[in-house]
Amino acid sequence: ETTVCNHPVKHIFRGTFVHSTQDTPLKILEDNVLGVDDDGKIAFIESGKDVVSLSHKWGFKASDVKQLELHEFIMPGLVDTHIHASQYSYTGTALDLPLLQWLNTYTFPVEAKYKDLTFADNVYNKVVRRTLMNGTTTACYFATIHTDASLLLGEIANKLGQRALVGKVCMNCNNAVEHYKESTEESSEETKRFIHELLKKKYPHVRPVVTPRFALSCCSALMRDLGDIAKNNNLHIQSHISENKEECEAVKQLFPEFESYTDVYLKHNLLTDKTVMAHGCYLSDAELQVFRDTGASISHCPNSNISICSGLLDVRNVLNHKVKIGLGTDVAGGYSPSILDAIRRALDSSKVLTIQDPSHQTLTFEEVFRLATLGGSQALSLDSETGNFEVGKDFDALLVNVCAPEGPMDICGPEPPKVLLEKFLNLGDDRNIREVYVAGRRVVPFAETASC
Ligand code: GUN
Ligand code: FE
Repeated sequence: ETTVCNHPVKHIFRGTFVHSTQDTPLKILEDNVLGVDDDGKIAFIESGKDVVSLSHKWGFKASDVKQLELHEFIMPGLVDTHIHASQYSYTGTALDLPLLQWLNTYTFPVEAKYKDLTFADNVYNKVVRRTLMNGTTTACYFATIHTDASLLLGEIANKLGQRALVGKVCMNCNNAVEHYKESTEESSEETKRFIHELLKKKYPHVRPVVTPRFALSCCSALMRDLGDIAKNNNLHIQSHISENKEECEAVKQLFPEFESYTDVYLKHNLLTDKTVMAHGCYLSDAELQVFRDTGASISHCPNSNISICSGLLDVRNVLNHKVKIGLGTDVAGGYSPSILDAIRRALDSSKVLTIQDPSHQTLTFEEVFRLATLGGSQALSLDSETGNFEVGKDFDALLVNVCAPEGPMDICGPEPPKVLLEKFLNLGDDRNIREVYVAGRRVVPFAETASC
C-alpha cells in the first residue's frame, strides 16, 4: 500500500474500462489506469500511455498495478432496483398464475414464514451471496412484514458487503392469507422501529426504504402515514404500480376518487425523487409526466412481466418522457436473480414491441447496459455515489473475463472491447465475473465458501 499526500491508494487497475455517462450509453476506455483510494472511492482514471508520470503523480509503484489480461475488462457493478429477498426460496417455480392469484397462492404463505429468524437467516444469506456472485453490487430489497427478519437482511447485506436498500413490507388489507397481515398502527409503528434500528447500526452502505407493498395491500391511512414517515426522515420509498390489468382494474374500483393509479400514490405523498415503483406496464403518458415532475423512477422487471404474464413495458416511451429507469429482477415473479438475465429479457421485450409495431425504436444493448448500471443508480437516487467510473464515486465494479476457462462462451479471435461486452451481456454468467468490488472492497470471491 502506497501513500500520496495522506491519501493512500488501495487498488490500481490497468486495462479496459467500460461504463455509461449521461451523454453516452457506452464509453470504452482502453489502456486506462484507475486508482481506488482508501475510502473505496475512485481517485483517478487516466490514460495509461504515460504510466510512469501517473505513478509519480499518484504515488504508486509498478508492482502495485493490477494489469488486466487479454479478454478482461472492468465495468460498473450491476444494480437490481427491485428484488424480493424473501421470495428467493421459491425462485424458478410457481410461475403458472397471474399476479393477484400468485400473491395469495404462493407468495403470502411463504412470506409468512419469515417470523422464524432461522428460516430468514438461511434464505437471506443465500440471496445476498447469489446476487453478489451475479454481479449485483447494489440491490433494492423487499423483505417481509417482519421487522426483525428485515433487520437481519440488512445485517447480512452489510456483512457480505453489498450496497442495499432494505424495506420492511407494509400491508394491512385485502389479503386472503389470515396470518400474514398487520393493522395500520402495527405497520406504521414497526416501520418506524425498523428505520430507527437499522439507522442505529450505522452500516455504511445499507439503508432503509419505506415499503408500502402496493395500493391494493395498503389502506389510505397507512399510505398517508408511510408518506409522512418517508418525508420526515428523508427516506427512499418503493412499491409496485400498474403491473397487471386485473390489478389496475381493482385499484380503479378501490380508489374511484383518484384520477389514476399514479394519482393514488401522488395524493398519499408517496411519489418523490427518492421513490422507485416496479413495473409500470400500463402507465399512461399523463402518468409518466407525473413521474417526470416528481422525480419518481421506474424499475423495469421484464422477466417478471413475461413470467407471470403481466404485460410489456415500453421502455422507449419511458425514456422519451425522461423518467428515471433501471432494471429489476423482481425475484420470484421473475425467475432469475441475475441482472444479466434482466438485460436479455429487456432486449427481448423491446424486440417483441418491434415485432408488434415495426416503427417501435428497439433498445440497443448499449442502452440496456446503461439501464443496468448508471440507470439503476439514478433510479435509486444513488448516482452521486455509484453507477459509473467518475472520479469521487465509490468503486463498485466487476472484473469480467470473457474467456473464463469453465465459462459459457468462446472467443474465436481478437475482438474489440465493445464485442467482448456485447458477448458477455448476451452469453455470460457468474463464471465470467472473476471479482466484484463494492466501495473498493473485494466482496467476490467470498472470504469463506458458501454452504448449501
Ligand atoms: N405486487 C404486490 N406485491 C407484489 C410482489 O410480491 N411481486 C410482484 N411481482 N408484484 C407485486
Ligand atoms: Fe415485485
